[in-house]
Amino acid sequence: MEKIPECLIHPISIKLIRAGHPWITPDNFSNRFPRQSEFVIAMDDRKRPMALLLHDPNHKNVKARVWTTKYPFDREAEHFTAGLQARLDLAFEKRLKEPALKERDNYYLVFGEADQLPGIFILKLKDRVLIQFYTSFWNRYKTVIQTTVQEVFPEMKDENIWLQLRGETRELQKLPVNSTDAGRRDEFHIQEFGLQYLIRLGSSYDYGLYTDMSSVRYVLKKYIHHDSSVLNLYSYTGAFSLWAMKLGAKQVTSVDLSPKYIEWLQQNLGLNPELNSTQHEALTMSVEEALVKLRNEERKFDFIICDPPSSSTDGDKRTSAIKSYKDLISKMDKVLNPKGHMVIFLNTHQVTNQKFERTIQDILGELKLHYNLSARVSLGQDCPTLKGFPEGNYLKGLVLEKL
Ligand SMILES: C[S@@+](CC[C@H](N)C(=O)[O-])C[C@H]1O[C@@H](n2cnc3c(N)ncnc32)[C@H](O)[C@@H]1O
Repeated sequence: MEKIPECLIHPISIKLIRAGHPWITPDNFSNRFPRQSEFVIAMDDRKRPMALLLHDPNHKNVKARVWTTKYPFDREAEHFTAGLQARLDLAFEKRLKEPALKERDNYYLVFGEADQLPGIFILKLKDRVLIQFYTSFWNRYKTVIQTTVQEVFPEMKDENIWLQLRGETRELQKLPVNSTDAGRRDEFHIQEFGLQYLIRLGSSYDYGLYTDMSSVRYVLKKYIHHDSSVLNLYSYTGAFSLWAMKLGAKQVTSVDLSPKYIEWLQQNLGLNPELNSTQHEALTMSVEEALVKLRNEERKFDFIICDPPSSSTDGDKRTSAIKSYKDLISKMDKVLNPKGHMVIFLNTHQVTNQKFERTIQDILGELKLHYNLSARVSLGQDCPTLKGFPEGNYLKGLVLEKL
């Protein structure tokens, strides 16, 4: 094996790595890592080797990710494939031991950095597997990863393995590709908490159900009672709406701007004949518009779910979800019953839990609204988070009770 280059890293990176943060962002040091090197050994300011890094010179935001801080680094690199397999096995084993995951066909087998597998996410979707890479570093290890999955799940056929490159920039936002036939599209049904959902692979960036939200859906069941009326804003394919109906809600209204997702939601409803679809109403319009319409009709709800995209654009300007919350909370309040709850989500690592909570408390103060913070919700179960790595803890939810 060629000698691995040893490179000084930025003083802030030294601090962050010592605190458990696994990323190196672009700076004067990381931009000079030798481009052709797959691995880099990071050195501290006293030229002591401190971490073995996986290098991705083409990534816009994350130039390298920590593989290990344990010596000897050249040995770790030499036995990299065996180390990778061992980490995959450990992650799979954890999921197979988790009783809560028996309640659903969809769960994460690997959740990136928190499983010590930086930039790799692997989803089990019934008898399919979707392997997601957030860095093209992993492209050359596709076969090793696929084989390791199939050793643990021997029933997993080659044609049921899907691969996807994902990320924040356009070059990384690819559709899932089938491992045996790159042009293939796949449609099938999976169950989550006794409900059926339509999953599509190969035709869209997301497959139709947010699995990182599954444990949150489960936790929120205590706010939905028999006879609740529920408003699901930014409903996507309706996972929260169907779940509310299954829990006995007497009326559920879903709002999404996209006719494609509302159509998908209707297909999901059709897959669950035990749900009474006459108790469901779909509004294909913007949330802002829907809240005004519902208010004018003097409609009231007991539980509101609000899960906006982290940022949106009206063609002219980009607004972050946190900025739109003042207007949204004011409008949601007008259609929420006293003693009712709203759960508001923020889907970004750029705002910390504390900042989100503070901003919402400030907004409630400015609007002179009286709410209790009943609960905080976040990633859980199959989606662990890592201390010292806020980027991995991107999902935040606050349950507010109207006093
Ligand atoms: C993050 S997804 C919501 C996921 C959903 N809560 C779930 O758990 O399945 C965001 C959704 O918001 C919709 N959307 C974006 N901007 C919107 C707007 N202004 N009004 C209504 N829907 C919007 C998108 O079409 C998308 O389906």
